[in-house]
Amino acid sequence: NIWQQKWVIGNWKMNGQLQDNNALVHKLRSLPEHNNVCIGISPPTVYLLQVHQAVQIVLKNKIFTCAQDVSRFAEKGAYTGEVSAEMMKDVGVDIVLIGHSERSLYFNEKNDVQRQKIENVLKVGLIPLLCVGESLKEREDGREKEAVAYQLSVFKGLKTQNFAVAYEPVWAIGTGKVATKEQIADMHQFIYDEILSLCGNDANIRVLYGGSVNDKNAAEIFSVPHVDGALVGGASLKYDSFTAIINAAQ
Ligand code: G3P
Repeated sequence: NIWQQKWVIGNWKMNGQLQDNNALVHKLRSLPEHNNVCIGISPPTVYLLQVHQAVQIVLKNKIFTCAQDVSRFAEKGAYTGEVSAEMMKDVGVDIVLIGHSERSLYFNEKNDVQRQKIENVLKVGLIPLLCVGESLKEREDGREKEAVAYQLSVFKGLKTQNFAVAYEPVWAIGTGKVATKEQIADMHQFIYDEILSLCGNDANIRVLYGGSVNDKNAAEIFSVPHVDGALVGGASLKYDSFTAIINAAQ
């Protein structure tokens, strides 16, 4: 049951090429069994099918194929450049990242669009993984919980029992700065409480931490209460560091 496992998902962002992807996934396929860990890879959209086909033949560990984003339009049609949740399901995607801070930063994506995307993903039976996290300014002003609560409000009234969130403080993404154990514990507890109050007590919840997770700090981060895994950026592009993080989650 993945809702009881630690999730370690590699967000490749806009990195990768056929040959390199193949080499990396090939090596990951032969990892020893990790019963307590749900491993995921999130390549650029154009490589989803490649990754899915490569991980499909894994016998020991299922490796989940994760998309980095999805269209806000649910139905097929005249939406040039868009890829629907249904198409993602068709090529073997399991999990879809929604609302990564880079989507807000560069594409001005807001709560209403994230909500539509979550609904589209749920409608086809995939798992949305909502990314939340405060900016440096919000933390400095002591408004980090307010910011995260606002982002989590997209879950309000959703017809699902399963909630996956990645807490990624914006100031910790790609900066080498990691939130302290206390900051992570405090926010993860807050996210659990928020989801329970928005969506009821019988929810399945996974809250991953993201932001400069690497092979050196992973074990410490995983030891924090309510840290159910990691969404890994830069360190997921290298086999050694990504597998070290997976091992730390065991
Ligand atoms: O989604 C993962 C992420 O934004 C963190 O990136 O490179 O700091 O691990 P990175």
